[in-house]
Amino acid sequence: MDQPVTPATAPPAAAETPRCRIAFELNGQPHELEVEPRVTLLDALREHLKLIGTKKGCDRGQCGACTVLVDGRRINSCLTLAVMCEGRSLTTVEGLGTPEALHPVQAAFIEQDAFQCGYCTPGQICSAVALLDEARAGRASAVTPDLCRIEGPLSDDEIRERMSGNLCRCGAYPNIVRAVRQALDSNPG
Ligand code: FES
Ligand code: FES
Repeated sequence: MDQPVTPATAPPAAAETPRCRIAFELNGQPHELEVEPRVTLLDALREHLKLIGTKKGCDRGQCGACTVLVDGRRINSCLTLAVMCEGRSLTTVEGLGTPEALHPVQAAFIEQDAFQCGYCTPGQICSAVALLDEARAGRASAVTPDLCRIEGPLSDDEIRERMSGNLCRCGAYPNIVRAVRQALDSNPG
C-alpha cells in the first residue's frame, strides 16, 4: 500500500545574526561600524573598511602579517574580534605616514631594501613602530641580559627577538634588522 505523501515544507529561514555597533578611532579619525560579533578585526579592516594594507597570511596568529597597533601596542588582528576594539585607538600601516612624509620606519625599510614580495611588510613595519616605543620605554625582551639595567642601543639579537612574531617567507630578515636598527638610531627617543 502506498504511503501518504508528506507535503514538502520550505526549510526554516536562518535566524539573522545580531550585529553590534562599535565606535573607535582609526588612523586618527572617528569611525563607527556595524559587524557580527564573530568578525575579526582583520576582516573588519579589509572587508568592511577596505583598508587592505593589513595582510592576511595564516589567519591563526602564526605569521604576524596582520599586525596593527591598538592603543599603541602591536596585536595580531586575526586573533582579535572587531567588537573588542570599542573605544580603542587603532593604527594600521595606512595611518603611519604618507608618500610625501613617510614614517621613519617606512623610510628605513625602503632605504635598507627590507622586503622582496612585500606581503609581510605592513605587519613588519607596524611591529617595528611598536618596537621603537617599547625600546624607548625600557621594556625587556626574552633575550635582555640584565633585567635590572636595560640601557643602551638594542643589539641585533634584541631586534631579532622583538621582531620574531613577524615571519618573512622571502627571508629578508638581514635587511629588516638593518632597517629597524636605522630607525632606532635615527629616533633614539
Ligand atoms: S594572519 Fe594574523 S598572524 Fe598570520
Ligand atoms: S618580503 Fe615577501 S614575505 Fe616578507
